Amino acid sequence: MISESILTAKTLRLRPADEGDLVHFQRWLADDELRRWLGSVNEQPSIAEEYDWYMSKRQDPDTILWSIEAADGSLLGNVELRLSPLNRRAEVGIGIFDRGQWGKGYGTEAMRLVLDFAFGELKLNRVELTTDEENTRAIHSYEKCGFVREGLLREHRLVDGRPSDCVAMAVLRSDWETR
Ligand SMILES: CC(C)(COP(=O)(O)OP(=O)(O)OC[C@H]1O[C@@H](n2cnc3c(N)ncnc32)[C@H](O)[C@@H]1OP(=O)(O)O)[C@@H](O)C(=O)NCCC(=O)NCCS
Repeated sequence: MISESILTAKTLRLRPADEGDLVHFQRWLADDELRRWLGSVNEQPSIAEEYDWYMSKRQDPDTILWSIEAADGSLLGNVELRLSPLNRRAEVGIGIFDRGQWGKGYGTEAMRLVLDFAFGELKLNRVELTTDEENTRAIHSYEKCGFVREGLLREHRLVDGRPSDCVAMAVLRSDWETR
C-alpha cells in the first residue's frame, strides 16, 4: 500500500508516493552504482516497468511505501516496509536515488522516522534489513539509527555475476525503547 501517513523531520518528510514520482525514479535508476547498492534492479527499468512496480506496491497490503522529499519539496528517493504481521516484523528498504544528495544526513533522518513509525504506530517488534558488505555508507547510517549487525550472509547476492557477501542487521523493539 502507499502510506497515507506523512512523517516530518527537520530536513525532510516522508509522503505518499505518487505516479508523478515514477519518471524521476526511472531516470535515476540509469545510475549503475545506485542499482548496484539497491541490489533489486538489474538494469534501468522502462517507465512501464516502473509503473508496474508502483502498482504492485500499491496493491500489496503488506508493503508500506513512502517517497522521501527534502524540506524544499524536491524528491530524494523512497523507503518501504515489507511487513510480516504474524511475526510483528518488517524488512526495510531505502534509497536516496539522487547521488548528489548522498552523505548529507537524509538517509539517516528518513530511517529514524520509519523506525519511530514501525515501533510507535505499528507496534512492531523487529525491523531488519540486509545490505552489501561493501556499502559502508549505508552500514554507517544504519548503525547511527540503532541497527545491530547480526551476521554475514555469505555470497548472498550476485553483483555483475560475482558472488558478494551481505550484512544482516536489525533493530529490536527493546533496542528502540532504550535508545
Ligand atoms: C544508504 C543511504 C540510504 C544512506 O543515506 P545517506 O543520506 O547517504 O546517509 P547519511 O548522510 O544519513 O549517513 C551516512 C553516514 O556515513 C558516512 N559516510 C559517507 N560516505 C561513507 C563511506 N563511503 N563509508 C563510510 N561512511 C560513509 C557519512 O559521513 C555519514 O556519517 P556521519 O553523519 O557520522 O558523518 C544512501 O546513501 C543511498 O540511498 N545510497 C544508494 C542506495 C543504497 O545504498 N540503498 C541502501 C541499500 S541497503
